[in-house]
Amino acid sequence: MMNKRVSRYFLTGFYLCIMSFSAASADLDKLQNMCMACHGDNGVNPYQSIPDLRGQSLVYLRNQMAAFKNGERQDITMSKVAQLLSDDDINKLTKYFSEQ
Ligand code: HEC
Repeated sequence: MMNKRVSRYFLTGFYLCIMSFSAASADLDKLQNMCMACHGDNGVNPYQSIPDLRGQSLVYLRNQMAAFKNGERQDITMSKVAQLLSDDDINKLTKYFSEQ
């Protein structure tokens, strides 16, 4: 289990990250860096409460992001992350992680 301290650390980092780009013109590198802070460089991370993205199918990843964005799937972090992303961003990011 991820302890509270660690998850607070992540949330702080996350809010700093989202303040550093504007959703409308976010470039892919910055978005990827934000994802990697939690999910790991190549989609694999050491935290039990964060799922690995590597090896997931493109369709699965895209559907999860769409579900976070439209509220069907709820998570304190991912719901906010997904709402910042355009459909184009989601396509690029999920393609990247599915190819790791
Ligand atoms: C602050 C940490 C954090 C950041 C930043 C973050 N994620 Fe997540 N992500 C999570 C957590 C925690 C979950 C698990 C949510 C749950 O339990 O439903 C998750 C779940 C997911 C899932 C669903 C995976 C599955 O197996 O169902 C996808 C896809 C995903 N994230 C993609 C991304 C992408 C793309 C980005 C960057 C734009 C990103 N995440 C940024 C923490 C993060």
